[in-house]
Amino acid sequence: MQWMIYGANGYTGELIAREAARRGLFPILAGRNKQKLHELANELGLPYRTFPLTQAAEVHESLIDIGLVLHCAGPFSVTAEPMQEACLTVGAHYLDITGEISVFELTHSRVQSARARKKGIVLCSGVGFDVIPTDCVALRLKELMPDATHLSLGFDSDLALSPGTTKTLIEGLGAGCVERVDGKLKATALGSRHRHIDFGRGARSAMTIPWGDVSTAYYTTGIPNIQTWIPMPSPLVFGARGLSFARPLLQVNAVQKLLKKLVERFVCGPDEAARAVMPTLVWGEAKNAAGDVVSVCIDIPNIYSMTVDGALHITSHLLQSTIAGGSYTPAVLFGSSFITKLPGSGNFKVIRSYS
Ligand SMILES: NC(=O)c1ccc[n+]([C@@H]2O[C@H](COP(=O)([O-])OP(=O)(O)OC[C@H]3O[C@@H](n4cnc5c(N)ncnc54)[C@H](OP(=O)(O)O)[C@@H]3O)[C@@H](O)[C@H]2O)c1
Repeated sequence: MQWMIYGANGYTGELIAREAARRGLFPILAGRNKQKLHELANELGLPYRTFPLTQAAEVHESLIDIGLVLHCAGPFSVTAEPMQEACLTVGAHYLDITGEISVFELTHSRVQSARARKKGIVLCSGVGFDVIPTDCVALRLKELMPDATHLSLGFDSDLALSPGTTKTLIEGLGAGCVERVDGKLKATALGSRHRHIDFGRGARSAMTIPWGDVSTAYYTTGIPNIQTWIPMPSPLVFGARGLSFARPLLQVNAVQKLLKKLVERFVCGPDEAARAVMPTLVWGEAKNAAGDVVSVCIDIPNIYSMTVDGALHITSHLLQSTIAGGSYTPAVLFGSSFITKLPGSGNFKVIRSYS
């Protein structure tokens, strides 16, 4: 089966392309930047294709002999739909490394799931740091507490971000925060939720952010109330509350464009040495109606190594096996222990408390 990395010249796409080449997985590199793709493909000895995602017919044609696309071109708010559409038309598995809630909702919509089942292809969004580890933690918590009604997930990392991730975060800030309440996604103000959490290195002040798991963990576990957390010093939580008043400004197209231009100019992403010292702690907590609590945490490598290994693990598996068509989360495809099998990950540490 031939497969393709689209967005192969981006920061994360290139990391994945290099590792895929090193493992002898022979992807076709693709994207819209001919010059950069030509240089990378030449260096890695791989074929490449150049096409934008703006013309549906051109995208279909470019995928006609492809069995799987690993989509790495984001922000995915613009790129996911045309690529998913083409994959559903030609019958290619679709994987992406998004963390965007709207894209997860598209992938898991009834319409897309039914189309994927009929076509016999897998749609799986979030095959990177967001959401493999937290999705596995969510499923582990559901296994430990089948009657859980509330789920909290989060991570603690000394992050340095790539350009695309920073641009995606800027889009997210304009939209405020999101959580899941009684099965439905609900917008909340940034900084409106504040608590102390021990992610694995002592209790820290934390706030909720609009992270992909408010979507995916629901499809993985069915738990109706979900929040996603990161550590944030208390003064910054109050600052974020203040920023909520600037939200309309952050939604203005011209402001978004300006901020993204600044990102292109000043953000280049962590190098190999920086990535090596960015280990991450992933945490989750489930509660049931009786007030019992179970929490789980796990160490994982930095977010980019996690994304490369996770995405290539899922890709290799789909290239070699037959899986019934439909929309999947990573943990539903591979089980909660998937994360513990990826290089550099530890094992789940479980803590229980009873009401
Ligand atoms: N799930 C995770 O944990 C995880 C981890 C890392 C990254 N990500 C996500 O992956 C995405 C890429 O991140 P990055 O840091 O690699 O970004 P990047 O270095 O800015 O690269 C972005 C890539 O996407 C392409 N692209 C952007 N908009 C496009 C469009 N409208 N049509 C076609 N191609 C387009 C770019 O092509 P040009 O060169 O032609 O502009 C480039 O190849 C971001 O959304 C980021 O949030 C997720």
